[in-house]
Amino acid sequence: MSTLDHPSPRIAGRPSGGWFRPVLFVGLLVAAVFPVRATDGPTKDKNPKPIAPAVSTGTGLLLEPALTLPEFTWEKFAAAMASVGPEKIQRPWTNPVVTLPPHPRADVKGLTEAEVKTYMTEAKRLFSRGEAVPLSDVGLISTQEDVIRKPMLNHIAAFSNSVARVYLLVQKTATDTGWSYFSIVQDLTRTPVLDYFAELKKEGPKFEGTSCYKCHSSGPLAIHPAREDLVLDAPLAAAIGRHIAEQPRSRFFFPEDSPKPDPGKPLTLKFCARCHAEDGDRDVLHQVHSHPIRVLVDFGYMPPNRRLKPEEIAELKAWLEHKP
Ligand code: HEC
Ligand code: HEC
Repeated sequence: MSTLDHPSPRIAGRPSGGWFRPVLFVGLLVAAVFPVRATDGPTKDKNPKPIAPAVSTGTGLLLEPALTLPEFTWEKFAAAMASVGPEKIQRPWTNPVVTLPPHPRADVKGLTEAEVKTYMTEAKRLFSRGEAVPLSDVGLISTQEDVIRKPMLNHIAAFSNSVARVYLLVQKTATDTGWSYFSIVQDLTRTPVLDYFAELKKEGPKFEGTSCYKCHSSGPLAIHPAREDLVLDAPLAAAIGRHIAEQPRSRFFFPEDSPKPDPGKPLTLKFCARCHAEDGDRDVLHQVHSHPIRVLVDFGYMPPNRRLKPEEIAELKAWLEHKP
């Protein structure tokens, strides 16, 4: 995903118009209230249940053998993570979610795209100044299977105020040199909540659709480290993972240049659709989501509270292989 390189003519062609002015405007208002106090906001349990270690349950759903990365030691992991700037990570925290100042427009109903982008830029700025509270891990879903198949290093930080939940992902593979920046903003002023996805490029945030939707079917993904030791601040990872899992039911914003793809057939097997449904806790899963489905089920994370029976695995496998 860090190799995504979509040209962004709308932004490049309009250096002085559009969202730059509101960004500056809101940026100034926001800057007046920063620095952020990570101790504010809703009280969170500092000791949530730890994330269960990733162990393949051998369902046969994976297309490639499960990777355990034996050569990737904790020391290599810690050094690679610190290459982003050691002062930016492993920060002390009380609240896993950094509280943002109140939105400047009172009673806002529907953030503008410019406001969404401002939140994204602000998250990156806070991270760069060492004012975010990021967890660092090697993400299971993006490391396994044929997508990357090498350690995918993630720093993830969460922010919020009463109108938005904001996430920042700072990412690279173990062999890339530079870090890439991605963000998700959930506009809580809409019903249902609307999720925006973007890559944060040098010129600013560029909204993305299809390329994020294939893994992020219901917005942000809960944290799942590829190995128990490949995570810095495991209690923070668990706390942010829980914040994500408890998120409001939301819709995916597709920008005009990346409209909703044909997602393929919906997954209607009741042992999944009980929760992943139009009126469920999570959005309906489709064939386009096969990759996270294979990984999360094989590693025993889905369904959340039990293992599938062999006949259920067979039904899911048949569906993944497009058999009626
Ligand atoms: C191959 C699957 C995959 C794709 C495609 C993908 N992501 Fe993610 N994303 C993940 C996983 C897995 C995590 C975090 C899990 C972890 O670190 O344990 C994640 C985490 C994130 C986070 C941190 C908040 C969260 O959800 O945990 C952001 C922000 C994010 N992704 C943005 C994006 C954007 C923007 C795109 C599209 C440009 C995108 N992602 C595409 C798999 C994917
Ligand atoms: C009891 C409710 C429940 C059931 C049953 C369930 N899920 Fe989930 N699923 C969740 C929740 C809650 C999340 C988000 C938290 C997490 O990822 O741990 C989630 C996340 C996911 C995701 C990541 C995309 C997303 O929605 O965030 C996938 C893929 C997924 N589940 C697949 C499945 C499959 C396949 C099955 C059936 C084998 C299944 N789930 C059964 C509740 C459920």
